[in-house]
Amino acid sequence: RASLAALDDAVPSPNRVQDRRSDAITLEGAFENTPDTDSSLAGNREWGQQILSRALTSTAGESTVAGAAVDTAERLDEVLDTAVAASTAWAARGGAGRAEVLDRVAVELERRRAELLEVMAAEAGKTLDQGDPEVSEAIDFARYYAELARGLDEVDGAEHVPAALTLVTPPWNFPAAIPAGSTLAALAAGTSVLLKPAEPVRRTGAVLVEAMHAAGVPAEALQLLILGERELGRELISDPRVDQVILTGAYETAELFRSFRPELPLLAETSGKNAIIVTPSADLDLAAKDVVASAFGHAGQKCSAASLVILVGSVARSPRFREQLLDAVRSLTVALPTDPTAQMGPIIGAPGEKLERGLTVLGAGESWLVEPVALNAERTLWTPGVRAGVARGSEYHLTEYFGPILGIMTAPDLDTAIEMQNQVEYGLTAGLHSLDTDEIVEWVGRVQAGNLYVNRGITGAIVRRQPFGGWKKSSVGAGTKAGGPNYLVGLSGWRSRPAAG
Ligand code: ALA
Repeated sequence: RASLAALDDAVPSPNRVQDRRSDAITLEGAFENTPDTDSSLAGNREWGQQILSRALTSTAGESTVAGAAVDTAERLDEVLDTAVAASTAWAARGGAGRAEVLDRVAVELERRRAELLEVMAAEAGKTLDQGDPEVSEAIDFARYYAELARGLDEVDGAEHVPAALTLVTPPWNFPAAIPAGSTLAALAAGTSVLLKPAEPVRRTGAVLVEAMHAAGVPAEALQLLILGERELGRELISDPRVDQVILTGAYETAELFRSFRPELPLLAETSGKNAIIVTPSADLDLAAKDVVASAFGHAGQKCSAASLVILVGSVARSPRFREQLLDAVRSLTVALPTDPTAQMGPIIGAPGEKLERGLTVLGAGESWLVEPVALNAERTLWTPGVRAGVARGSEYHLTEYFGPILGIMTAPDLDTAIEMQNQVEYGLTAGLHSLDTDEIVEWVGRVQAGNLYVNRGITGAIVRRQPFGGWKKSSVGAGTKAGGPNYLVGLSGWRSRPAAG
């Protein structure tokens, strides 16, 4: 198998010279996470600057998007037939055969890191520091699911029987990592895939598909799907040729899919309303930094983002932590991602009804400590907002807004803070800042969320180290975690191997 190190000549990023010295970063041997670009190196910053200049006029993926348009029921029918027919040969390659292709996908995605960053800045407003880890994560998914696919051939007493066709419907907020992860998992499990990218980020989806085809995924086994009409979406989901759907999006979207087809096998990672608790024993400097990064990275448009911070006891009573937090929030530079000084970029499109309320309406007893202000006529570029006085059970406490706003709640003790954290109907990520072991043990035992983080930020789960997925209304369907050891099993049909003789 190819070594990533061998790509140094082909990849213009100076990162490769810096980060590929280690022999460990090859496709041989055990899985390792892919390093992000080190922006402390002047050469890497120059490389980034060139990417941002190209983003202003980027057309990456455009022709592939045009070629993937499906406007009629007849055309959709053909696409489905082609995908199902291709699944037999793809499944017949076995886990090891598919893994070889996925390893080549990892190489191809690394080769296209700059192109992916360019198209994500152009379409999704991603700053480089937010986009770069996404590319690394997409590469990690390829390599990790390749490893898991090899394991599918080795299960004793059962034969792996893949389903024929998986529909992948990812969101716009992680336009590279999430579609890549879902698509590669389904391919690793042996099914054909239709990838329907979210409308605002179709070209990023197209670049991913181009990379996968270039790496050897058959064009019929992976098709980009651009639906011309909403009605075709309902038809697609209702079609029995679709064996399963991997959805990442709002809980309401999962409900909509189920209303189209109640028995639909659905693996959905849905909404979140996530809080970080800060207790008096915390390292407050670290807590302020982690809360700001978790709340305002990618302008808060992450299902994993911190939308609440719950201050406990003396942290709530004293002004010190609040002042630190507000200083840090006010210092954030808000700009379009093509401006290299941007620390927080735009929201995608003008705020919808729910976010509009979050950005403008205060609940009873609430006040703005930092009021969010729109900086451009399109109302996509917002300064970060922080509100205090969020009451237990209030609209802000319980609603997912998906934007650059943070609410502060206070609790007399950790016990109450945990109850507040658990009171929301979702359970995706949760954070605790405390240096007290008893508090940490208590919290880990009680908090109802899929991904728990102690003394760090609550976004940016790393493949294999932090398999990602939620509890309660943050997850619909099998509930297995992306980037974790059981994910492919959750996607696959299994049957007993017939007894010999
Ligand atoms: N997997 C993404 C994160 O952890 C959503 O932030």
